Amino acid sequence: MRRARITGVGHYAPPRVVTNFDLEKMMDTSDEWIRERTGIVERRWVDEDTATSDLAAEASKKALQMAELKPEEIDFIIFATLSPDYYFPGSGCLLQHKLGINHIGALDVRNQCCGFIYGLSIADQYIRTGTYNKILLVGAEVQSKGLNLSTEGRDVAVLFGDGAGAVVIEPTDEDRGILSTHLHADGRFATELCVEYPGSAAPQGATHQMLNEERFFPKMNGREVFKHAAIRFPQVIQEALEANGFCTQDIGLIIPHQANLRISEAMRTRLGLPPEKVYNNIQRYGNTTAASIPIALSEALSEGRIQDNDMVILAAFGSGFTWASAAIRW
Ligand code: COA
Repeated sequence: MRRARITGVGHYAPPRVVTNFDLEKMMDTSDEWIRERTGIVERRWVDEDTATSDLAAEASKKALQMAELKPEEIDFIIFATLSPDYYFPGSGCLLQHKLGINHIGALDVRNQCCGFIYGLSIADQYIRTGTYNKILLVGAEVQSKGLNLSTEGRDVAVLFGDGAGAVVIEPTDEDRGILSTHLHADGRFATELCVEYPGSAAPQGATHQMLNEERFFPKMNGREVFKHAAIRFPQVIQEALEANGFCTQDIGLIIPHQANLRISEAMRTRLGLPPEKVYNNIQRYGNTTAASIPIALSEALSEGRIQDNDMVILAAFGSGFTWASAAIRW
C-alpha cells in the first residue's frame, strides 16, 4: 500500500527575540499576566524587510536538505498561512520563485491554526493517488506586522509570534507514514477570532473608515476560544486514535498546535497522559499559527523526542472555528 511519509523537516524563526518585558514597554501588560495565562515567555518578530515567504524559504531549504533533495526535484508546493505577503497572489507562488523553481503548482491553504494539518491531508491524498511524489508543505507566519501593539490590542498581541516550519512528503511502501487525517470546521464561530478587513464583506470605498475603526487588527473572544479548544483538542485526538485502532497508551508523542500552555495541559490531563508525551515550545515562540506544528515537530525531532516507528499525533484548533488531527507512524 502506497502511503505518504515525511522525509524532511526544518524550521526557521527570525533572530529578533521579543520578551514579555519588551511588550511591557509598548502596552499595559505584564510578564506575570502573560506567563500565568498563556505560558509564553518570549516570541520572535521579523524586521521591516522580511515577509512570510522569506521565513518559509529558509525553513524549506532546511527540510529539503534533510530529505536530500534539490528544490527543482519538488513537484508541488502547499503553503499554509493566515498572514500572506500579499492579499493576492498566494505566498506559494512567491516561495516557489524564492526557491528558484518556476513551473510546478503552488497551492495556498487558508485554515489558520489548522492550516498545516489541512495541508498535510491534501499532500497525503496527492501522494496516495500517485499524483505527486515530492511535495513541499510549509506553514509560515508574520504576525507581528499585523498586531495592534497598543493596550487596546493587548489580549491578542501578547499571544502571537513569527516563524516558519516546512516538511517534505514522499511515498513509501512501508507500513508507516501518515495513517489518517481528520478535518473539522464550524463557521458559526467565524467572528469569534478573525480579521475583518480587507475583505469583500466591507462596503465599497470604506477604506478610510476601516483604518479609523482599526478593523485590520485581529479580534478575539478569548474565553470562547479557550472553552472550545479545551473540548476539541482531546476529541479530535481520540478520533485519530480510534480511526487506527489505537488507545492513548500507544501514543509516542502528541504535537499540539501551540495556542496556550493551559489549553495544552488541559488536553493532556483530559487524556490522562504524562508530561513527556506532549510537546510544548510555546514558551519560546508564542502562537505561530500555521507554523507552530512544523516548528514543534522540527524541534522535537532534533531533541530526539521522536524515534522510528513512534506513533505521533498532530492536533490543532483555531479560527473558523477549525480543528484537525493527524496520526503518523514515524
Ligand atoms: N495583559 C494584561 N491584562 C490583560 C491582557 C494583557 N495582555 N489582556 C487582557 N487583559 C485583562 C482584561 O482586560 C481583563 O481585565 P478586566 O478583568 O479588568 O476586564 C483581564 O485581563 C482578564 O481578561 P480575560 O480575557 O478574562 O482573561 P482570560 O483569563 O480569559 O485570559 C486569554 C485571556 C486570551 C489568555 C485566554 O482567554 C486564552 O488563552 N484564550 C484562548 C486564546 C487562544 O488560544 N487563541 C488562539 C487560538 S488558536
